[in-house]
Amino acid sequence: MVRSSVCVPYFALHIILLASMTKAENGDLVDQICKKTPFYDICNSTLHSNPLNPKSDLKGVALIMVNNILANATDTLSYIERLIKQSPGHGLEKALAFCAESYIPIVKYTLPQAVDAINQGRFGFASYCISDAVKEVSTCESRFSGSTQSPLADRNGFVQKLVDVASAIIKLLLKG
Ligand SMILES: *[C@@H]1O[C@H](CO)[C@@H](O)[C@H](O)[C@H]1NC(C)=O
Ligand SMILES: *[C@@H]1O[C@H](CO)[C@@H](O)[C@H](O)[C@H]1NC(C)=O
Repeated sequence: MVRSSVCVPYFALHIILLASMTKAENGDLVDQICKKTPFYDICNSTLHSNPLNPKSDLKGVALIMVNNILANATDTLSYIERLIKQSPGHGLEKALAFCAESYIPIVKYTLPQAVDAINQGRFGFASYCISDAVKEVSTCESRFSGSTQSPLADRNGFVQKLVDVASAIIKLLLKG
């Protein structure tokens, strides 16, 4: 009787303490990891808008980043498809079609493979997939050099930065 009346509140307090500690520790984890990437702000805001689960570690963080690239690349592919439907001039349409062909394998295969590889602890392969994705994105961007101004410059640039952040995190996993 005495025991339960003491134990229960203590237990509840313990849970509250643990919960708040975990939150602070996640904040620290995010800060520590993002400082080791080339774009702190992008890293920080991405990780803060995707709540980490309490047991998050470097691998969990890498998964969040790569899934975020996947979401953003998927969004960019549908943006490209919308632009194509607006029948821009011939030159622009050709470049956009080329870019759609670059983004389709990234969204369908390359990034999902990177996610699987991280889940399986195959960080070297994950790193390879990610750098393959960024190669495709820069080939797409190079199609606009010359007279046509790239309507994808901001989006391609953002995907490249996300990839740079993810690569830095995967390098930490490879070292660990
Ligand atoms: C990290 O992001 C959070 C949420 O957007 C923000 O409140 C915090 O100030 C950022 N940290 C730094 C050091 O910029
Ligand atoms: C992808 O990034 C662009 C910024 O370049 C942003 O406008 C867009 O909303 C993002 N999409 C997703 C799904 O995160």
